Amino acid sequence: MNYVLSPSILAADFKVLGQEMKKTEENGAAYIHFDVMDGMFVPSISFGMPVLASIHDATEQFMDAHLMVQEPIRYVEAFQKAGADYVTVHLEACEDVKTTLDKIHACGMKAGLAVNPETDVKELVPYLEDVEMILIMSVHPGFGGQKFIPESLDKIREVRAMLNEKNLETDIQVDGGIYVENVREVLDAGANVIVAGSAVFRGDAGENTAKFMEILKSY
Ligand code: DX5
Ligand code: ZN
Repeated sequence: MNYVLSPSILAADFKVLGQEMKKTEENGAAYIHFDVMDGMFVPSISFGMPVLASIHDATEQFMDAHLMVQEPIRYVEAFQKAGADYVTVHLEACEDVKTTLDKIHACGMKAGLAVNPETDVKELVPYLEDVEMILIMSVHPGFGGQKFIPESLDKIREVRAMLNEKNLETDIQVDGGIYVENVREVLDAGANVIVAGSAVFRGDAGENTAKFMEILKSY
């Protein structure tokens, strides 16, 4: 299993975004987590394709786009053109989940499928063979800096067991409220792709990344 840190730039200082991303890259973060919010699926609005297009060649990091967007199929091609490597969509936001995942693959990207805290992970079962990553939201999507919902740990265990049963080595990403202090619980439950916004970009992004990487490397 590949253990990866995906710093969420939602918490970064956008005046110096390129430099902040570089600090995370130099300290071992393999991905950058790009939170897209449409003001419909979630209450807030963040950023979209032009920002991704401008930052993706500032780094070698894998662009991990998390679309908190209603009917994300409408934007799959646009995100591919903007430089996304991974596109994760919400199960709750797609009219036709399978067609959406197929479109992501047809555009040459990896596909992720996300579930909100109130969604039963059993709803993921029909799609387990169709994704490279499952994203368990450990906060209600829409804002950074929220508190980790402890019940997420059981959901991670349940998804890892479902995947093991099918002999799938699919990535499990967890997003929201993760800090150096609680990341081990998330990893022990079976996650291997860790999103952290506030914990990386509040303070020294390089030092914070290094602290996470020290833990991830021990797995
Ligand atoms: C929440 C976003 C998260 C968020 C995580 O809607 O999907 O990626 O930025 O932020 P922290 O790590 O601050 O909880
Ligand atoms: Zn996210």
